[in-house]
Amino acid sequence: MHIAKRLAQVQPSATLAMSQKSAQLKAAGADILNLSVGQPDFATPKPICDAAIAAIQSGKASYYTAATGLPELRSAIAAHIKANTGFEYGKDQIVVTNGAKFALYALFTAILSEGDGVLLPQPGWVSYTEQVRLAGGIPQPVYAKDGFKVTIDDLDAVATDRTRAIVINSPQNPSGTVYSRQELTLIGNWAVRHDVLIVSDEIYSDLVYNGNSFTSMLELDPQIAANTVLIDGVSKSYAMTGWRIGFAAAPKKIAQAMATIISHATGNPAAASQYAALEAYTGSQQPVFDMRDAFAERLNTFYPLIKAIPGFELDQKPEGAFYLFPKVTGAVKALGYDSVDTFVTALLEETGVALVPGRAFGMPDHVRLSYATDMDTLIEAAKRITDFVNSSN
Ligand SMILES: Cc1ncc(COP(=O)(O)O)c(C=O)c1O
Repeated sequence: MHIAKRLAQVQPSATLAMSQKSAQLKAAGADILNLSVGQPDFATPKPICDAAIAAIQSGKASYYTAATGLPELRSAIAAHIKANTGFEYGKDQIVVTNGAKFALYALFTAILSEGDGVLLPQPGWVSYTEQVRLAGGIPQPVYAKDGFKVTIDDLDAVATDRTRAIVINSPQNPSGTVYSRQELTLIGNWAVRHDVLIVSDEIYSDLVYNGNSFTSMLELDPQIAANTVLIDGVSKSYAMTGWRIGFAAAPKKIAQAMATIISHATGNPAAASQYAALEAYTGSQQPVFDMRDAFAERLNTFYPLIKAIPGFELDQKPEGAFYLFPKVTGAVKALGYDSVDTFVTALLEETGVALVPGRAFGMPDHVRLSYATDMDTLIEAAKRITDFVNSSN
């Protein structure tokens, strides 16, 4: 039995592994507080569910759609992008996929030849690295000299003549960092100058809090926008992770290449989910604002509790997404563990609190805590972590 060579270096998703481990412990009766998942705990808003039900009952969800998605959904996504950023796409530039995850997978497969590089600012979402590898590319991790935001000096230090793309994820998973317009403009101009495609993963763009503002790559100079592939979807903004609808908005040539891949790989995403997404983009946006406000309240409660834990360093309050990413080596050492990974395992086994080790995001001194769960769980989890860390004293 043979497994393809290209899988030799690819790791399974650490976040999914942690979620599964805590689900198993929970099923066995343990009192688990799961802060490892990257999904909103809210139910999908009712009008969106109703649209899917109506599509199923009318029979129109029974059939294949175009591989790249329903034309009316692609038009609605183009209109949504235009309203938010001013940038105009034709509907043939929108490729609807099985989650943003598959949009990225199809994109890397479409643009990378063997040995091509992709700049990946760290910390960064766990799947970029492995998807680049699966597509035959070379992940080029970029560490900021300071903090979590890379600058063009950091990019210059890592880029090679085989660098084909850079992934910018703002707001960022796992740190909640949001790049300013000025920072994005510098990176955007750098990418244009070096003929490096910008992959702008804006899946958390609706989740920015406390008066901070979000800038899309598409709002900048038109040359930057024309050199960008936007990645987005309904998972985080509309509490629709289970529906599996994401999209890429891309220059025509890239959209066509992705369409070819998708036509052979998945065909269209589930038609009922597409009708649900159509309602999400064209219906009232009030549920998005309400969920954003709830996340902001959780952040404002949870952040000071975690920041106050001895040996947890979290100077910068996150501006967006729904994660905290403290450095925890102080606590790990004080408790006598040899790594953050063993600390996270002990925390889960002894207190029932599930986190994700920072190694999964390229920074092994950190942990990621998701606050996409209810306030009581967050307060209780902060208490259990605090007690666990204080147990060394
Ligand atoms: C940064 C980032 N991009 C993309 C995704 C993929 O989202 P989905 O496939 O649910 O649309 C996630 C999900 O966790 C994410 O955190």
